[in-house]
Amino acid sequence: MTQPRLISGIQATGSSIHLGNYLGAIKQWVQLQQDYEALYFIPDQHSITAPIDPAQLRENTLRYVAQLLALGLDPAQCTMFVQSHVPANAQLAWVLSCLTGFGEASRMTQFKDKSDKQGEQTSVGLFTYPCLMAADILAYQAELVPVGEDQSQHLELTRNLAERFNHRFGETFVVPKARLVKAGARVYDLREPTKKMSKSASSEAGIVHFMDDPKVSAKKFRSAVTDNDGEVRFDPAQKPGLSNLLSIFAALTDTTAEEVALQYQGGGYGALKVDLAEAFVAFAAPVRERTLGWLDNRAALDRILAEGGERAREIAGATVARVYEAVGFLPDHGRSGRS
Ligand code: AMP
Ligand code: TRP
Repeated sequence: MTQPRLISGIQATGSSIHLGNYLGAIKQWVQLQQDYEALYFIPDQHSITAPIDPAQLRENTLRYVAQLLALGLDPAQCTMFVQSHVPANAQLAWVLSCLTGFGEASRMTQFKDKSDKQGEQTSVGLFTYPCLMAADILAYQAELVPVGEDQSQHLELTRNLAERFNHRFGETFVVPKARLVKAGARVYDLREPTKKMSKSASSEAGIVHFMDDPKVSAKKFRSAVTDNDGEVRFDPAQKPGLSNLLSIFAALTDTTAEEVALQYQGGGYGALKVDLAEAFVAFAAPVRERTLGWLDNRAALDRILAEGGERAREIAGATVARVYEAVGFLPDHGRSGRS
């Protein structure tokens, strides 16, 4: 039986995946690989839309792959690859950029936010980033794309481009659907619990990284910001700090925040924090060990990416060949494959 196809990517933005990335995205990826023909990749070409040190990019990419494996992606169940290993993504991005209106691209809120921050440094690549992301998805004829809410506008553009292309040049692309992460999967900063946990936070104290020593993370949980009324109750509006801890605890132990609140009712916050810290260490310590194990076995990582890349090139190369023909590029008889 063929499974429906799904694709997603995560940028290797630092040296470590954080708890928000895991509970908000990767945990779902791990579950979805069972029921879908899943492709997961590191969009390294997206990472150069802002200046980044080459050695750092290489190192981060490898560390993310190792962590994804340690967190449960299984190369026997999914295809893992690095975007730059597949020429078809960039080839298709060019074609799609020629179908994207300048005004349409200008309305992307992520571009507005990032270009505001980058000012004069803003590159054309940052502007056309959504076209590359559309190509990342359409090249693989994926039906489903699990992404965070911040990516839903890019997904909408991707759907529009697929429909526009199909209308203008004939049925070529599957029109993909977004699978937005549920609100409950959002993890907030342990120090500023009204802000989402993010690598761009002002202080490291509120972020839990999988590559950190688990003892350091345990301390962060124990000193998480809560409130003073002492009542254990799941109430994100009135009690954002405590509710965040309840949600995290629930997600790590596969129960609900309300359930955890019941267990600790009348017990004060101390016991909850200590137990949560312990639960996290129990989960994260083996993940860290496995990650270090993978990083020690570079040949195995290379092999996984080589196999994944080959499979990805097969699928995406076939799509680009159809696209090139549909738009009227002359067949190249000097080459057997396109990419
Ligand atoms: P980023 O590295 O911020 O681009 O995030 C990569 C993925 O993790 C995206 O799918 C985000 O939606 C998800 N993510 C990042 N931070 C959080 C968070 N604090 N809570 C839940 N999901 C998150
Ligand atoms: N733009 C996404 C992000 O920053 C990453 C990404 C690139 C992606 N290409 C993709 C996600 C294709 C899903 C599908 O989070």
